[in-house]
Amino acid sequence: MNAPTQSLKGLDLHAEIDRLRKERNAVILAHYYQEAAIQDLADFVGDSLDLSRKAAETQADVIAFCGVRFMAEVAKILSPDKTVILPDMAAGCSLEDSCPPEQFARFRAAHSDHIAITYINCSAAVKAHSDIIVTSSSAEKILAQLPMDQKIIFAPDKNLGAYFNRKTGRDMLLWPGACIVHEAFSETELLKLKAQYPDAPVAAHPECPAFILDHADEIGSTRAILDFALASPAQTIIVATEPHIIHQMQKAAPHKLFIGAPGADGNCNCNMCPYMAMNSIEKLYLALRDLTPRIELDEQTRLAAKRPLDRMLEMASASVGQGDLGQRTTD
Ligand code: 13P
Ligand code: SF4
Repeated sequence: MNAPTQSLKGLDLHAEIDRLRKERNAVILAHYYQEAAIQDLADFVGDSLDLSRKAAETQADVIAFCGVRFMAEVAKILSPDKTVILPDMAAGCSLEDSCPPEQFARFRAAHSDHIAITYINCSAAVKAHSDIIVTSSSAEKILAQLPMDQKIIFAPDKNLGAYFNRKTGRDMLLWPGACIVHEAFSETELLKLKAQYPDAPVAAHPECPAFILDHADEIGSTRAILDFALASPAQTIIVATEPHIIHQMQKAAPHKLFIGAPGADGNCNCNMCPYMAMNSIEKLYLALRDLTPRIELDEQTRLAAKRPLDRMLEMASASVGQGDLGQRTTD
């Protein structure tokens, strides 16, 4: 049961959001990096792949997307007839910012013998220039369906791309983008924490640089990190990703200790995603009330971006093994 959140002139915002959710036939989708109060209000909380799947299959008329803009855009690309609202339209992503569409198009043109596998953390315009979209939870399975000699551009996250190069033995050409949140973890501080808790495994997101991943016992998407933290027999777990995910861990396993991996000064807020933090309960209420800010995409971009996203959804659900698909994925 949620505690009432009062504000915007003394309204019970939880009750108002519940009322509007019913009136508008809305579904509230939230990413694990959202503040705890938003996670608790949501109809579904998940990683990027889970949220994409939910957005594609929902029967709701309105999708209230509590995450960042590229995630809400994915919902609109996959469900164009729905009204998709984002509590704060300024909620971007440093990875998206690191890959301007015109530069990406030029890079692609300069490597025309490569296909583009693009991480979902990018704009709709960059998706439109891509062959297959991946998330951190689907990339390995998708790469396993491509021939090993396929030349691949991987954008925009160089850390994620380097991780999959190491894991799969590929030599993908990496776009030099990075997530400001996952780049902020400190190896020195992590080693100090490990020395303090020698039995605690480290679960890390693959957006972290290799110097953090080298110390991880589990590397995976936000959902994979959550699953690991809950399934592990360890009573203390070090979590190297955005710390709001710890809310779900504490709810499901209150007897365990979950410690966020430290940033450079050992105790900074630099691992909180500033874009995710732009959303709030107040802004969610206003968005549901006014049905704005609303995601709008031009139809040409939407259709071009849908193709590689559909590819991801198909390939992520395919029942195939390593190297089963021997053909190039572009037509
Ligand atoms: P996930 O797909 O693991 O949820 O990652 C989303 C994200 O933005 C991580 O920074
Ligand atoms: Fe983007 Fe990083 Fe925030 Fe994820 S944590 S939304 S990659 S800035």
